[in-house]
Amino acid sequence: MDQSPASPRHMHLAAFVSAGPVSGTHGGWRHPAADRNILAASYYAGVARTLEQGCFDLLFLADILAIPDRLHDSMDSQLRYGALGALRLDPLLVLASVAGSTRHLGLACTVSTTYYPPYQVARALATLDHLSAGRAAWNIVTSFQQAEARNFGLQEHLSREDRYDRADEFVEVCGKLWDSWADDALVLDPVAPMFADPAKVRRVDHEGRYFQVRGPLNVSRSPQGRPVYVQAGASDRGRDFAARWAEVVFITPPSIEAAKSARADLRARAERFGRDPDSLKVLPGVCPVVAESRGIAEERRALLQSLSAAEAGLSTLAYHLDADLSQFPQDQVLPAMEVSGVQGHYKEVAEMTRKTGMPLSKLGQQYGAGRHASGFTGTAADIVDTMAAWHDAGACDGFMFQVPWVPGGVEDIVRLVIPELQSRGRFRRRYADATLRGHLGLARPPA
Ligand SMILES: Cc1cc2nc3c(=O)[nH]c(=O)nc-3n(C[C@H](O)[C@H](O)[C@H](O)COP(=O)(O)O)c2cc1C
Repeated sequence: MDQSPASPRHMHLAAFVSAGPVSGTHGGWRHPAADRNILAASYYAGVARTLEQGCFDLLFLADILAIPDRLHDSMDSQLRYGALGALRLDPLLVLASVAGSTRHLGLACTVSTTYYPPYQVARALATLDHLSAGRAAWNIVTSFQQAEARNFGLQEHLSREDRYDRADEFVEVCGKLWDSWADDALVLDPVAPMFADPAKVRRVDHEGRYFQVRGPLNVSRSPQGRPVYVQAGASDRGRDFAARWAEVVFITPPSIEAAKSARADLRARAERFGRDPDSLKVLPGVCPVVAESRGIAEERRALLQSLSAAEAGLSTLAYHLDADLSQFPQDQVLPAMEVSGVQGHYKEVAEMTRKTGMPLSKLGQQYGAGRHASGFTGTAADIVDTMAAWHDAGACDGFMFQVPWVPGGVEDIVRLVIPELQSRGRFRRRYADATLRGHLGLARPPA
């Protein structure tokens, strides 16, 4: 039986895509039926419209600000194999174009707090929220690669503590800018005349450790008040940051138990920050491969794996951990290390290698082939069984599906998995709200 749009049995679904060659698997762009038109607006419009047919909450575009060069101190493996960081269009511009070809889908953009000024980011995201009539979200990242630092005039990137200190102040400043126009400040009365009421637009006069911003913003308050905040930090500091600010958190747990404990921890931290833990939606990332039978799904997964070159995956893992993995013996497991890059990815891989003893030479292939916790390859019924078990166990509020390939991988999810979720009353059949905050059941912040 279908449930009401606000049913607690309903899950939230985000789709992870990058405006480049790789979304879910490194083999995706090499698939015989892949659309390789990744530079065309129509590619992103097509993905977004498919997701919208499936009533997804949001499309999430990841981003990085450099071509990674952590493996062998060289970009070659990224470029040759079309690995995750080989090419990235600017996600804000891509999403602005997607806004025009969709009506309901949330549009989450990754923007770094380390390499952009807050005024520019507040303005761009308010613009996206206006152009999409209330569907913008911001994946708040602090960036973690040396190569990114070098593209912005720094020799060394900031320490994790400094990055998060800066990010805290950055988000604070953006919030002040978004609130610098009262909701009713834009009057647009041509007769009075009163374009905007000067009494309702105020300066912010922010003087902080990292930023001095006078304000106000030169964009009026946007439909959602501010974009939905998304985050994916997994270090202790990253989780506190998520608990303080985020409304959607992406995690990469290697198992249902790991997801349960991550979600419980994030919710407890959110309460310590004085927040309602239900205002934070935790979505584990998985790359599902679905087909009409288990055998066909396994064949499809095997094809994607065979197309994911080991060196491409190793190169991406090296950039995620910000460590040159070619320096370690390839016939041995990944050694324990201090990771300056993404701790979430490190924990995931470290736990997997501890369990399986997989040497580095195989790990690259496995990592590049996409994130597949068990139970996400099979029929729609198999996958929805797994999703429901995770959701019922309190391991998540929904999922972030990393799109295995475009267009077939995403079409299969919408054609097979979504109806199965809907028929079990676990997902909306239509959009009931106009904004992304509405889809997620999140309150609009007052000015
Ligand atoms: C699923 C997932 C997606 C992420 N997407 C991005 C991204 O698109 N761009 C980026 O710079 N960092 C991205 N990150 C990195 C995090 O935002 C964060 O900067 C990183 O995990 C380092 O913080 P931590 O040490 O607290 O984990 C992602 C992390 C995860 C787990």
